[in-house]
Amino acid sequence: MIVPANKWATEELENLEAAGLIRTLEPLDSPQGAEVRVGGEELVNFSSNDYLGLAQNFELVRAATDAMERFGFGAGASRLVTGDTRAHAELETALAQLFDSPALIFNTGYAANAGILSTLARRGDAIFSDALNHASLIDGARLSRASIEVYPHRDANALDRLLAGSKARRKIVCTDAVFSMDGDVAPISALLAVCERNGAALLVDEAHAFGVFGPAGRGVCEMVGVASKVDVRMFTLGKAAGSFGAFAVASEPVIGWLRQRARSMVYSTALPPGVLAASRAAVALLAAANDRRAQLWRLTERLAAGLRALGLEAQDHSPIFPIVLGAPERALEVSAELRARGLLVKAIRPPTVPEGTSRLRVALSAAHTDEHLARLLAALREIGVGPGDGVPASD
Ligand SMILES: Cc1ncc(COP(=O)(O)O)c(C=O)c1O
Repeated sequence: MIVPANKWATEELENLEAAGLIRTLEPLDSPQGAEVRVGGEELVNFSSNDYLGLAQNFELVRAATDAMERFGFGAGASRLVTGDTRAHAELETALAQLFDSPALIFNTGYAANAGILSTLARRGDAIFSDALNHASLIDGARLSRASIEVYPHRDANALDRLLAGSKARRKIVCTDAVFSMDGDVAPISALLAVCERNGAALLVDEAHAFGVFGPAGRGVCEMVGVASKVDVRMFTLGKAAGSFGAFAVASEPVIGWLRQRARSMVYSTALPPGVLAASRAAVALLAAANDRRAQLWRLTERLAAGLRALGLEAQDHSPIFPIVLGAPERALEVSAELRARGLLVKAIRPPTVPEGTSRLRVALSAAHTDEHLARLLAALREIGVGPGDGVPASD
């Protein structure tokens, strides 16, 4: 008997294969880090979001181990039933202190964006979304059943016009703070001014900014001095913090509302205490990690200069460097050539990025060394990546 889904799946997979869009899972045989072991190969890793090199930090491991010894492993229920643990309260208190504002933990950044947007907006409302926003914001907007208006990338004037023309009951603007596949930074102050003028709320996803931007790594909104005016900020714990999970920072009423209504939090088993304890250790390390941040930014400037010397239009806006190569096959080919030289730089293809902008996404970590960068630049030169390749047209 042929199950219908098998037939559909076979066709879909064949189509992906033909388009050069099949992705594969590759388990690491080492901790996450600047150097990893994959499939028997030792590789310099330019494809993680472990910006501060905390993912394998022993303080996280010890905090998780201690908590698991005290509280066991699973939370066993959602937070609003019996899954709420002392570790949740301790992490939320630490976050509230760091941000001087109430905070609410979510299981992942994806769940946070889905829960926040579907709470803030419903049918009859409108969500305004940057054209290059992360999938979790797009999916959260869809889940809300509000109408969705996409504004051109980083274009506060275009957003202003859309907001002014909208008759929606509630208007919510959402943006990545640092765009995950392009590495550029949202014009938060301009977006906020436009929101204030039009009575719209602003949700900023600081996933790639937490730990990297702003005083104590508190993100782009803090860096530009508008944090207290932004309605909701969302931070993830699985990138620079080196742990897992996410949280929202907002006013007491907004956090209270999310706690009641954010379905991805209400209807999902709570994070295990060990994960939360590791996050608490991670947040303390991240806030104090000025040396690691300085190293990361030094490497960022150095790599930007090196890429420019190859004829690429690289910017040093963030530790994320897109090297746009166009067709998926070319991105795969260059990625394979780098791999043959001991460098892991994964190809990023549609639907993660728009058609025709398949790329290498080079992400730096404070754990990288000057020698790692020199190897990457030498390899790119050898492979012939240069003028004509580079940043996306949207920049
Ligand atoms: C901008 C952005 N927001 C949200 C997420 C989702 O966070 P998480 O991995 O914790 O689900 C990611 C990446 O994973 C991201 O890049």
